[in-house]
Parts: sequence; structure tokens; C-alpha cells
Amino acid sequence: MAFGKKDHLIGLDIGSGSIKAAEIVETKHGGTLKNFGMIDIAHGAIEEGTINNPETVAESLQQLFKSSGFNENNVAVSIGGYSVIVKKIVVQTMAEEQLQETIHFEAEQYIPFDISDVNLDFQILGESESNPNQMNVFLVAAKKEMLDDYINLMNLAGLNPCIIDVESFALQNSFEASYDAQNQDVALIDIGASKTSLNILKNAASVFMRDVSLGCGQINQKIMSLIECSFEEAEQLKYGNTPDKLSPDDLKGIVSSVVADWCTEIRRALDFFYSTYPDDQIKRIILSGGGANIAEFRKLLATEASTEVEIINPFQNFHIENKKLDDAFIKQVAPQAAICMGLAMRKVGDK
Ligand SMILES: Nc1ncnc2c1ncn2[C@@H]1O[C@H](COP(=O)(O)OP(=O)(O)OP(=O)(O)O)[C@@H](O)[C@H]1O
Ligand SMILES: [Mg+2]
Repeated sequence: MAFGKKDHLIGLDIGSGSIKAAEIVETKHGGTLKNFGMIDIAHGAIEEGTINNPETVAESLQQLFKSSGFNENNVAVSIGGYSVIVKKIVVQTMAEEQLQETIHFEAEQYIPFDISDVNLDFQILGESESNPNQMNVFLVAAKKEMLDDYINLMNLAGLNPCIIDVESFALQNSFEASYDAQNQDVALIDIGASKTSLNILKNAASVFMRDVSLGCGQINQKIMSLIECSFEEAEQLKYGNTPDKLSPDDLKGIVSSVVADWCTEIRRALDFFYSTYPDDQIKRIILSGGGANIAEFRKLLATEASTEVEIINPFQNFHIENKKLDDAFIKQVAPQAAICMGLAMRKVGDK
């Protein structure tokens, strides 16, 4: 048991809508959620993973740490969006050290940016299904500028970024801690405020990943173009509590058209998967992110994809120790907490 062991860190998911933070420790009950907190950030300060306004975001981070009572500086953060590229590639079988040396050469053809502008990382997945002399490799490329921006942001907020992970990996990590994905195909879909990530797992291994620029902010944009209002006002109006300003019919029309758009894009990704694995059937879609809360979306997706659609519960295998985190609150934040929980499970010194 690891009482008092100081290798744990705080998982930080810095989204364009809000920052989510979680802290997990080992206790006699096993993995224990010690703390969780969330804070909204000013609209526009972060867009699709790019930090436009570091001072504002750093202030929100400090405020979150103070108001939620986090007192650890070591953090694991994640990056996502179009500046991060995750791709499964096939290369000649070789040792990890050798691939380390040649990865730049291998990667060049897959990266739409200048190779000298990116940091590369990879993970060997195993022998290729079609050729025993080749192996599957997950290639991860992130713009150096973006990594620098995240490191600067952490420094500005007085935090120590021990791990910078990829959002989709963190989500997968979170899913694996709470679900058994052996012998089935599962799609993990995170719909945030400005981006959506899709990850299809076959027998618990990822075979397809894609990030697209869709998100709940589209609802705000449509409200703003229908009635003149700010993004923040639209954020209030979208919950339907002010029918005198935005009629229930208009709101319903907007939500329906946005979720139909999401379902089209998701169908496209699933069709791509089925064209590679024609004998497979994805039976479960697990949703996370704020978009998972939209019932109409879950219903439409279940029909269109002919699958079960459920909302992730990243807390289900964790003991909860903090009295502030009651059942109702935990249930409400569960879909948005998935990524930061996946990050909070990492340890100082992990690769
Ligand atoms: N019940 C709901 N109905 C409609 N929208 C909702 C609901 N709950 C949350 N949202 C929306 O979800 C979004 C926030 O989700 P999330 O926290 O996953 O995004 P984020 O991580 O901050 O953004 P991103 O990952 O895209 O940068 C907001 O746009 C919010 O309005
Ligand atoms: Mg997000």
C-alpha cells in the first residue's frame, strides 16, 4: 500500500469550455478519488486545444486549485485537437531503439506539418495482421509550439507538468480502469465544447482514432445567429430555462440539426472502420464530454449506428473519500471527468 507515497499527481483536462481536475490516491480501499474540481474558462481563451490567452487560463487554474483545495504541484495534462496527430502506421519489424532513430524518416509522409516543427513519439503495437515482417506502430506527433505553450501555461500557473499525454489516450486509460473491453468492439466518443474525438477499440486495442472540429459550441453559435446574444448568454439559453427568449421549438430545432451533424460524422468514421473490418460489429458506444448529456443525441446515435449508447462513468471503480463529492454531483460531472481521471491515474516518472 502506498500511503503517503508522493508519486501521484493531479490530472488536468484543459478544455475550451472548462478545466477539470482530479486527484487519485491509494488507500486501504484501493484507488480513491481524493478530490475533483471543475471551473469554466472565458470563451475564446482556448480553442480546439490552442491556448490563445495563457494569462486568463493560468488565473482560472489557480482559482480552481484554491477553491477545490488541491495542494499538489505535480500535474499530468493532455493535449488534443488538430495540432496533435495520432496515426496507426505499419513499418518493417525492428527493435525499439532502431525505430527511435528512424521514426523521423518513417513519419514524414504522415505528418501534414514540417517535420522539424513537431515532437514525435511512438508506441509499438505488435505484428501486422497482413505481414509478419511488419509491425503496427502508433505514431504521435505534436507541434513543438503547442507543447511549449502548455509548458509555459503550467509554469505561469505555478504547476509542474510531469506528464503531457494525448487526450484520446487518457480517455482510453480512464475507460480501461472501469470497463472490461476484451472480446468486443467499442467506440469511445468524446464530444466537448469545440472538438470531438473518436477512438475505436478492438479487443481493448485502439485501431482507429480521429479528432474532428465538432462540439457543443455549435449549438451556441446557432443560437447566436438566431437571436442576437453573446456566447455566454447562448450558454445559458441552451438549457431551455428561458423560453421567453428562445422558444422551446427553436431550441429543439437547433439541437436536432447539430446532433444530426455529429451523427453523420460518427457514421462516417464507423463506416471507415467497417470497411477495414467487415465481419466486426461495434455493439457499444461509450460517450464522454459535455455532449454526452444531450439525450436526443444519444437516442439518434443509437438508432443510426444500431448500437447501445451509454454515458461513461469514470468513477465506478474508485472509492470516493471527499464529502464534498456527493452522489448527485459525481453523477452530473461523470462524462466530463473521464479525461482528467485517466490523467490522474498516471504516476510521476511514467513515460
Ligand atoms: N446538458 C447539456 N446540454 C447541452 N450541452 C451541454 C450539456 N452539458 C454540457 N454541455 C456542453 O458541453 C460543453 C462542455 O463539455 P466539455 O467539458 O466536455 O468540453 P471541454 O472539454 O471544455 O471542451 P473541448 O474538449 O472541446 O476543448 C459545453 O459547451 C456545454 O455547454
Ligand atoms: Mg474536452
